[in-house]
Amino acid sequence: MLHLKAEPVANEVYARVTRAAQLVREKTGHSPTLATVLVGEDPASQVYVRKKGEMCHKLGLGHRDYKLLPDVTQDVLFDTVRKLNADPEVDGILVQSPLPKGLDEAAVFDLIDPKKDVDCFSPYNVGLLSQGRGTLLPCTPAGVMEILRHNKIDIAGKRALVVGRSDIVGKPMALLLLHAHATVTVAHSKTRDLAACVAESDIVVAAIGRARFLKGDLPWKKDAVVIDVGINRTPEGKLCGDVAFDEIAPKVAAITPVPGGVGPMTIAMLMVNTVRAAMLRKGISYKEL
Ligand code: GUN
Repeated sequence: MLHLKAEPVANEVYARVTRAAQLVREKTGHSPTLATVLVGEDPASQVYVRKKGEMCHKLGLGHRDYKLLPDVTQDVLFDTVRKLNADPEVDGILVQSPLPKGLDEAAVFDLIDPKKDVDCFSPYNVGLLSQGRGTLLPCTPAGVMEILRHNKIDIAGKRALVVGRSDIVGKPMALLLLHAHATVTVAHSKTRDLAACVAESDIVVAAIGRARFLKGDLPWKKDAVVIDVGINRTPEGKLCGDVAFDEIAPKVAAITPVPGGVGPMTIAMLMVNTVRAAMLRKGISYKEL
């Protein structure tokens, strides 16, 4: 059984990002720049935003760091996004989710210029994605596709199962697999016979957000590839995924661990999108990425 780790995949992606960012600098004198907007003091969000900024610095990308108080009004937050939309030096805008209660997250995401929407949350970019014409792709699902590509896992013609139907992971994951010619099933909390879905699946992507939800007693195919997107905490504070790794690993061909499997790919693909957004806005071909 193969452990599919993110590190070699992320390193390959970072090499591409560095080269593409260099190309943008040579052609325009401008470094691709990400603006992060953090509202409030949620500790996990602070860590995520700090890591995104650190990665920009490491790769030579620009980073603008906006921190707003937890009681900021919707109008002030809207104004911040409008300024970033209009700022020619800013290529990507990321408003960290979740926003504090009382702020309309969907309205804020809808306001972000789709050309700077490095999360791929805007209906415009989701529409392009659904037609297979996406340019800025959703970070976590795109990271999963990179893991599959890097490990030479065939997708065309395979049965793929996505467990979870969130807008951020489950739905776009199903679309990317479909565009890669898999036969895709999406299972969720109302699915009656999950075991029947698992029994016929060659690729299983778990994105339910529940600790160790997929167990070893399900009828796993022995050559199945299992991708665990979940990041949960046990009552003891340990990180664990949506699959019971120790139970399933001996039964399948390949599996991603948590932590160290899919997680690091999300930031890697955010860096890809930041450079892609810069290239799109400057009219530079982005195929190198
Ligand atoms: N919060 C947790 N993950 C993400 C993400 O990928 N993007 C944003 N904007 N917020 C998040």
